[in-house]
Amino acid sequence: MSEVRVKRVAIGVTGGIAAYKSIEVLRGLQQAGCEVRVAMTRHACEFVRPLTFRALSGAYVIVDDYSAENPDPIAHITFSQTIDLFVIAPATANTLAKLANGVADDFITSTYLACTAPILIAPAMNSVMWSHPATQRNVQKLRNDGVRIIEPDDGEMACGTIGPGRLSHPERIVSVALEILGETRQRLSTSESKPVQDLIDERILITAGPTREPIDPVRFISNRSSGKMGFALARAAMQRGAQVRIVAGITTVVPPSGAEVIETTSAEDMRAAVIREIDDATIFISAAAVADYRAKHSSPKKLKKSEAEMILELERTPDILKQVGLNKKTGQLMVGFAAETDDVKSNAQKKLSQKNLDMIVANDVSREGSGFESDNNAVTILVRDNPLSIDIPLSSKPEVANRILDEVVKLRRRTTSAMSAKHSKL
Ligand code: C5P
Repeated sequence: MSEVRVKRVAIGVTGGIAAYKSIEVLRGLQQAGCEVRVAMTRHACEFVRPLTFRALSGAYVIVDDYSAENPDPIAHITFSQTIDLFVIAPATANTLAKLANGVADDFITSTYLACTAPILIAPAMNSVMWSHPATQRNVQKLRNDGVRIIEPDDGEMACGTIGPGRLSHPERIVSVALEILGETRQRLSTSESKPVQDLIDERILITAGPTREPIDPVRFISNRSSGKMGFALARAAMQRGAQVRIVAGITTVVPPSGAEVIETTSAEDMRAAVIREIDDATIFISAAAVADYRAKHSSPKKLKKSEAEMILELERTPDILKQVGLNKKTGQLMVGFAAETDDVKSNAQKKLSQKNLDMIVANDVSREGSGFESDNNAVTILVRDNPLSIDIPLSSKPEVANRILDEVVKLRRRTTSAMSAKHSKL
């Protein structure tokens, strides 16, 4: 039997008020069985002393490569080559900018450049700094370089500002770190380290898979959708505490256990099921690839191939998402998908407003290795009233599902705080 090696994680702590929360990240990783080493920037030491991390990690905390006390003369190389994951939490706007541009003027930034292990960054800063186009550009650059970013939460910050910028919850950082280390599955079933239950109050209705539009009893019009994206969303939402109901077309993969599944075949069946269930849902995610056209007259008997040519008259199917989007109730969130082959963002933006959605997930289905039937996807998320789009590089569908749900959670927090602010004024 092969021995399971303990996973080594490095935590880089940079100079923000949230530096003290890195202690919880360190403890969480240790509780999950990881060996953790810590590096800090000089400014981070103003917030938490290196001694705290040294006592908890049992290892020398590196701040300065060149320090006489440093036991390793080329620490950034040795350190970066002996870890399975590098977590930078909290990451300041300054560190993000340096990392995005390859500046290596301290231990953390040099280690980043020398590191071949996966990188996970959890930024934290004032919301104006976070929303600044320069920071957003740097975050996008890092994502394009393959870095996994855990976006900050919305809330009140140390400076009193309310908005996005607060370090994501340490439990969430630990859970994403374990997911990257490939440990999630074992951990989920064996220990208390569950994903953060941030969808506990939600009842989510998800459509998945293709629809089939009959031409006669043996033939139909359909598409290449497998149902994998919708099912990945359902599974991730359940793991995060939501109650999930799926309206599925005929799929090539099995739905996640634990979700209630309503089986449908045609767009009309799917529409009827969604209309029946929608009032009970707090969130609707339309991941199904609903056929846009159906035979105007489907034949009850198998059509004969006696003629050399056959003209099939088609008519539009109902647009389910548009119907529920235009009738959405206060508090309901509507998430659509847009499978495009050209002008991906602008077409998705149009659908977002025409269908009265809160969020749309656009994917370029002409791109190889992603989209229909694939286990991976690369998407762009557009959110209502937000000019900044979020690009998720090619990742596994479960990973993309969690990134979409992260945005749903943020949007829910924003709408809830906007609603309570409105009520408090009344
Ligand atoms: O307009 P388009 O078909 O590109 O929009 C895609 C989005 O609308 C997807 O979320 C899909 O599930 C939904 N849709 C629908 N009913 C249709 C067509 C698409 O609900 N007839």
